[in-house]
Amino acid sequence: MPARKIFLLPGDGIGPETTAEVTKIMDWMNASLSSGFEVESGLVGGAAYDEHGEAVSDADMEKALAADAVLFGAVGGPKWDDVPYEKRPEAGLLRLRKDLALFANLRPAICYPALADSSSLRKDVVEGLDILIVRELTGGVYFGEPKTITDIGNGQKRAIDTQVYDTYEIERISGVAFELARTRSNRVCSMEKRNVMKSGVLWNEVVSQTHKANYSDVELTHMLADAGGMQLVRWPKQFDVIVTDNLFGDMLSDVAAMLTGSLGMLPSASLGAPDGVTGKRKAMYEPVHGSAPDIAGQGIANPIAMIASFAMMLRYSFEMIDEANAVEKAIANVLDKGIRTGDIWTEGAQKVSTAEMGDAVLAEVQALLG
Ligand code: IPM
Ligand code: MG
Repeated sequence: MPARKIFLLPGDGIGPETTAEVTKIMDWMNASLSSGFEVESGLVGGAAYDEHGEAVSDADMEKALAADAVLFGAVGGPKWDDVPYEKRPEAGLLRLRKDLALFANLRPAICYPALADSSSLRKDVVEGLDILIVRELTGGVYFGEPKTITDIGNGQKRAIDTQVYDTYEIERISGVAFELARTRSNRVCSMEKRNVMKSGVLWNEVVSQTHKANYSDVELTHMLADAGGMQLVRWPKQFDVIVTDNLFGDMLSDVAAMLTGSLGMLPSASLGAPDGVTGKRKAMYEPVHGSAPDIAGQGIANPIAMIASFAMMLRYSFEMIDEANAVEKAIANVLDKGIRTGDIWTEGAQKVSTAEMGDAVLAEVQALLG
């Protein structure tokens, strides 16, 4: 069994306490299934800034580049509100995405049956929901240049962000979306703002061309991104795979996350292109939620999104499909039993801590795989 090299970046806020629950599962898999996880830890975000004066050090970037997969907790918090923009905690996350060339961000939104009552929407709207947002992650307004604030005199400043997409970037992200749709319900909805943005015009054109050239078996629709947001809360089950740019994907995935009952439930995978020789993709796995500084350190955070991100790692980086299925099934079983952290707790359910939730999921994993 070759070693499976994992670089663990717990980060800030609830990152350390939620990643600790994944470590429990990895330790058990190593001991009982000889899974061969070799885990090394590093610093990112505010934790890295406090130690190295950077949101991620060059040495840790090297380790991230050398690993088979990066497991990422969360970054940020009020403690670092005043650090220089280039060194803010989020810069560490953005550097990892950019330097690892993780252009494809997969954000599934699944509503577990046991949680259909926790959503702010009607039960019939969200029950059984299973959609996948494919967000472009290394382009667009996040990284476009110029990105500046300049003094233009008379007490005025001008801020510029640049939204930019090249054909190849749209081709490769839509290819990922079409491929994934084939493994699901075979439908892709592409979202942009072609009515206002040139990048939206090109996006629409290239997605259509890619579809025609290689994926005409997949059903493709286009929607303006604002209408897409509206449709996501009106009737989300109309969607299978949504493909969209970096900024729209950021916003629409938070909307989709909340449909499922809690932001604490959603995992994500960020993937690079397959290596020409080995076929392996660089990859990073992280929950969609942030560092939640308001509840950090209290042991009440929901570790499910982090554990589900680990399941995505098993599936996409290590082809450990049975194990990935078992972890996902374990989460569903725990929820079926009425075990809940505070964010998803409802009257009559058993309220547990972060560690108790982790233990409950581990016990189910052990029962399924042991
Ligand atoms: C996300 C987050 C990040 C983003 C922040 C923390 C930079 O909101 O992963 O969705 O905007 O991409
Ligand atoms: Mg976001």
